[in-house]
Amino acid sequence: MSDLNTSMRDAADDVEQMLDKLLVLEGDPEDRVLEAMRYASLGGGKRVRPYLVLTSAAMFDVVRPAALRAAAALEMVHCYSLVHDDLPAMDNDDLRRGQPTCHIKFDEATAILAGDALLTRAFEVLSNPDTHDDPRVRADLVLALAQAAGEHGMVGGQMLDLLAETTTLSMPEITRMQRMKTGMLISVACEMGAILGHASEQAHRALQAYSHDLGLAFQIADDLLDLNATAEEMGKQTGKDADAGKSTFVSLMGEEKARNQAKILRDQAIEHLEMFGEKSDLLKQLATFVVDRRA
Ligand code: IPE
Ligand code: IPE
Ligand code: MG
Ligand code: MG
Ligand code: MG
Repeated sequence: MSDLNTSMRDAADDVEQMLDKLLVLEGDPEDRVLEAMRYASLGGGKRVRPYLVLTSAAMFDVVRPAALRAAAALEMVHCYSLVHDDLPAMDNDDLRRGQPTCHIKFDEATAILAGDALLTRAFEVLSNPDTHDDPRVRADLVLALAQAAGEHGMVGGQMLDLLAETTTLSMPEITRMQRMKTGMLISVACEMGAILGHASEQAHRALQAYSHDLGLAFQIADDLLDLNATAEEMGKQTGKDADAGKSTFVSLMGEEKARNQAKILRDQAIEHLEMFGEKSDLLKQLATFVVDRRA
């Protein structure tokens, strides 16, 4: 797995630098919101979504700087989703990536604004000609990310997740919720790589199938870790889903079946990449990482 470790670390370093460059304190009176944006996005996280953008783009020989801007934009949306997910009105968490959550470090109003601004800023980055000189590519990136993040994507999934505290969901309902709240941002990561790389229809479809299964496996792993891992390992509080009475794959299937399901999804995800041959080795290794991870 050393290939994957090195490649993920390099990507995380590059994403960190790009975010740092994009989120510059200007010495303005409103800088507090930028400080909160930087706090929420710099110095932590596994950077799985930007890694997927960079790695899928690399399969189509996209130059790294263009892919890095798209990767940073997607990470901004992910970080905004975490800031809002941690708010008292949602999961009410005080620990994220091993640090106090944004609303604890700053205050609730600032955390809401920092999330809003990270979301908005992501689309500014994508639509800026520095990301790609073809306006069609920029528009396609914006459209894909908007669809994945909005009310029929991550936000819609978060709505269903809150409703799941008070209703018991069926397996198809949980699958749909997880697909929306976590899967869509993971899928759009690969989609952005394919858009940047002018991938063929067949390549788009193969990556969609891969990321569909990867996203579900990712959330099952998160739910299992919520049950089994410690706050020290995860950098966030655990045991929260059961406390909140949330319907998850684990609450419905039990631990063992959920673990098996994650492995089935991992194997399926890897199979979908066959057409790419060894060019997709890192994406294949990532599927194993997602299921086996301890953080
Ligand atoms: C956490 O995502 C939220 C979920 C969708 C499960 P990650 O596990 O990718 O969190 P970071 O970015 O590594 O902190
Ligand atoms: C959050 O899911 C998914 C988002 C869209 C942010 P969780 O609530 O399970 O994520 P964690 O466990 O707090 O990271
Ligand atoms: Mg949540
Ligand atoms: Mg949460
Ligand atoms: Mg969780």
